[in-house]
Amino acid sequence: MERTLALLKPGVLDRRIVGEVLTRFERKGFEIIGMKLMHISRSLAETHYAEHQGKPFYEPLVAYMTSKPVVAMVLQRKDAVHVLRTIVGATDPDSAQPGTIRGDYGVITRENIVHASDSPESAQREIDLFFREAEIFSWEGAARA
Ligand code: CMP
Repeated sequence: MERTLALLKPGVLDRRIVGEVLTRFERKGFEIIGMKLMHISRSLAETHYAEHQGKPFYEPLVAYMTSKPVVAMVLQRKDAVHVLRTIVGATDPDSAQPGTIRGDYGVITRENIVHASDSPESAQREIDLFFREAEIFSWEGAARA
């Protein structure tokens, strides 16, 4: 089993589609083992997105991610990183396939609905940034994957 981090971006709360996005995760066999609403601080957003510092979209991205609460989640499944990225879809919603979350709900790239860790190493780093171990509950799920 592998863990990954998902952040439902502020627009997901705004548009009242939290439940729809969570349903996609659950249908694909992910176990939700950590979940909380949090208003990300500027310093956490800067650390999380450090690799994008200096890019033209960096400042608007940090401003957006700190504008309203996000839903932060730790998801567990076989090949969690790869499978979550697959169902989330391409970064640019205009290029994301229909049937993916960004393809179905996304409108602009910065507000592309979900952040999903891009490698097992990033997932571990990002989970550690957003969650304390005591906030993660690794319950015994029925195997679906
Ligand atoms: P996310 O998965 O959160 O990781 C980095 C984020 O940067 C990405 O989703 C988008 O929100 C944003 N991003 C990446 N590329 C661009 C771009 N070309 N224009 C605007 N925002 C971008």
